[in-house]
Amino acid sequence: MFEQLTPLPVDPILGLIALFRQDTNPDKVDLGVGIYKNERGETPVLASVRAAEERVLARQTSKAYVGPAGNLQFNRGMSELLLGDVFSAVESRFAAAQAPGGCGALRVAAELVKAAHPGATIWVSDPTWGNHIPLLGNAGLTIRTYPYFDAVSSSVDFSAMMDTLARVPAGDLVLLHGCCHNPSGADLSPTQWREIAALSLKNGFVPFVDMAYQGFGEGLDADAYGLRYLAEHLPEVLVAASCSKNFGVYRERVGLVGLLAANSATAQAAQSHMHSISRGIYSMPPDHGAALVAEVLMEPALRIQWEAEVAEMRDRINGLRTDFSRAMQARLGTDRFAFVERQRGMFSFLGLTEEQVLRLRREHSIYMLNSSRASISGLNRVNLPYVCDSIAAVVEEGSQRKVAGVSIP
Ligand code: LMR
Repeated sequence: MFEQLTPLPVDPILGLIALFRQDTNPDKVDLGVGIYKNERGETPVLASVRAAEERVLARQTSKAYVGPAGNLQFNRGMSELLLGDVFSAVESRFAAAQAPGGCGALRVAAELVKAAHPGATIWVSDPTWGNHIPLLGNAGLTIRTYPYFDAVSSSVDFSAMMDTLARVPAGDLVLLHGCCHNPSGADLSPTQWREIAALSLKNGFVPFVDMAYQGFGEGLDADAYGLRYLAEHLPEVLVAASCSKNFGVYRERVGLVGLLAANSATAQAAQSHMHSISRGIYSMPPDHGAALVAEVLMEPALRIQWEAEVAEMRDRINGLRTDFSRAMQARLGTDRFAFVERQRGMFSFLGLTEEQVLRLRREHSIYMLNSSRASISGLNRVNLPYVCDSIAAVVEEGSQRKVAGVSIP
């Protein structure tokens, strides 16, 4: 029965984890998967999450099912974290359910769209996170792209983006990265968010916000500006949130799917669909990670501790962005990598060719995606000079070959 199956290529992000593990070079550097690393290259459990875990385990008396909506305190805490002050005004129109990670939230959201409008198209940025297309497309929705990133200026090509969005019909959805765009690191400004909101209101497409890095860009509130503005001004907004990065609960699979509906009756109907969708795929979400996040969000002392930990992760990444840009300026004598300091979040495209990326991997044991997406927190004070020397070497060799008229393979 299964003999017709042939092996599929490995996922480019997950495949890189395996390649990195196999490399025996003691100087190897992992700039691949989006997992936050501290200065020692570790991804420890956050102290606030560890404290929450002790409290949750101490009072847990049962492992009975949590129910299809998951942990209700988690749902409320996350809805408030995402929507801030806007939440109380829209609460009766907001349906939300715990989901297994940001991926689970995206998939439930896609199934909800399909239940409402089987023919809907979701427009995603070009480029977008590699797993968006399978996650949303496998639900049976049509995926189309809108221009987003200008590789020459390493910033958002907003006029090209808006030209395409102006043609998106009512009833389609536009997937927007809430902050810390993955993979480019190039974010929308508050003015641009407001322009998108006005266009959505005029033309009737529905914004679908993926919030996977809240707190990693400018701050927990600043990073939610766009989502909150949309929620305040539009009748409908879909949201998928991940707690993997900002709570460091990657393997626990914690996320939230939310729909701001046009009225409370629709929100109630959507809530029942979320339950039915999760029941039909995985029955109900896992308890543990969401219980920890709920504890952190609801217990004032833990919340303060967690916010400080998020700030520490954010400041470290932003500091590394500055250090990297300056170190490359010192090596190359040009501001070619200055954009890394301006961008936000875990990732930047370094603007290297695939051949240069593969040389860095083969000859220097430095791992990033073939697209040259680099996960910035993989840098630290020890490996940064080595990484910058290696990048400068492959970049300079490339320009020498160009000057000598030799084509780069
Ligand atoms: C990434 O983009 O590296 C992360 O979001 C991890 C993943 O699942 O792809």
